[in-house]
Amino acid sequence: MAETIGAATVTLEQAEAFLRDFAKMSEFGATPNGGVDRQAASEADIAQRRWFAGLLESHGFRVEYDRIGNQFGLLELMPGAPYVVVGSHMDSQPTAGRYDGAYGVLAGAHAAFRLAEEWRAEAVIPRYNLAVVNWFNEEGSRFVPSMMGSSVYTGVLPVGQALATTDRAGVSVAEALAPTGFLGDGDGPPAAFCAEIHIEQGRLLENAGTTIGLVSASWAASKYVVTVEGAQAHSGATIMDDRQDALYGAALLVVFARELADRFPGALHTAVGQLDVYPNSPVVVASEVKLLLDLRCADEAVLAEANALLHERFAEIERVANVGISQTLSHEWGINPYQPEGVALARAAAERLGYAHGEILTVAGHDSINMKEMVPTVMLFVPSVEGVSHNEGEYTRDDDLVAGLDVLTDVVRRLAHG
Ligand code: GLV
Ligand code: MN
Ligand code: MN
Ligand code: MN
Repeated sequence: MAETIGAATVTLEQAEAFLRDFAKMSEFGATPNGGVDRQAASEADIAQRRWFAGLLESHGFRVEYDRIGNQFGLLELMPGAPYVVVGSHMDSQPTAGRYDGAYGVLAGAHAAFRLAEEWRAEAVIPRYNLAVVNWFNEEGSRFVPSMMGSSVYTGVLPVGQALATTDRAGVSVAEALAPTGFLGDGDGPPAAFCAEIHIEQGRLLENAGTTIGLVSASWAASKYVVTVEGAQAHSGATIMDDRQDALYGAALLVVFARELADRFPGALHTAVGQLDVYPNSPVVVASEVKLLLDLRCADEAVLAEANALLHERFAEIERVANVGISQTLSHEWGINPYQPEGVALARAAAERLGYAHGEILTVAGHDSINMKEMVPTVMLFVPSVEGVSHNEGEYTRDDDLVAGLDVLTDVVRRLAHG
């Protein structure tokens, strides 16, 4: 028997292979401060996808792309049966950590590799086939909205709309993907179940001394694209009463977002994450500001109230700053639970393998939030040191990464056997 870590079933050799591949992945789009920049369909994302395709193929998985560039590694042992889809996303924010998304894709792949070996050695045919997935553009940092690949796969976002979406330089998803060879023409493999593992991106697991988070539901979210329209003017010469300063209007909104969260302590998280100021020049009063405003809430009634207050404030700011405000909801989701049977399955796996575990909600968005509306879905978390995320300093300890791989493997094994 190969030596294992604690009560785990991952051998040292498997753990080392996983960590070696993870170190390799972290080289794609590596930034000087130890993070990554791998926005969707960027050079780094493309290079990493090529490398990942090679890894999948070297383990006997067939690589396929659907109409929105989701990357699948398929192991079809049961002809015609639907798939257990396991993975996450490899795209990142512009100055991101190494773990967000990439960890879940690689853990999904290594879980699948191990099961493939097991089944070959024991001549076992599982009930369902296996698909490792790397969802396209989960982050939404280059193309809004986030979770784009899984939204198209699950039918909540029309593929034509997704392909026509442009980045801030005016390049569409279709234009970015077409030359890469990652744009297929099918719908992707049919799913029977889904599993995803991810870093927590918060500090609850660490604070509780828990290794495995069993995600039972998501916080709700409302994400706005807001345009504040004013009039371009001389920032010195124009008298104050004549001004229609779009940046002033936007600034009031940024401040209000924070004040709104402070009204619902602990229940509501808000931020403006991106501002585009036009013409963004010295000595010029801004004519237009486009901003992305994000509300997350653990309580749908509170979120509805916060949205109503936000709309009242839009109208006030239009008056106070003498600007026009238009807005659209680019993305929203509710507090829908993950299937309790999936949570129970994950709990049993963590228990059997001897890891401290507990239920947790996800505040961040994940592709599994889409998938759970289509098929029974299991979502697992491992701790993030000090909760740091969307930051180059994001860190998860190796033994937690391996513990997550161990539990994920057991979960996928059980799902595949039905
Ligand atoms: C996406 O990652 C989100 O949390 O919205
Ligand atoms: Mn992620
Ligand atoms: Mn992220
Ligand atoms: Mn996310």
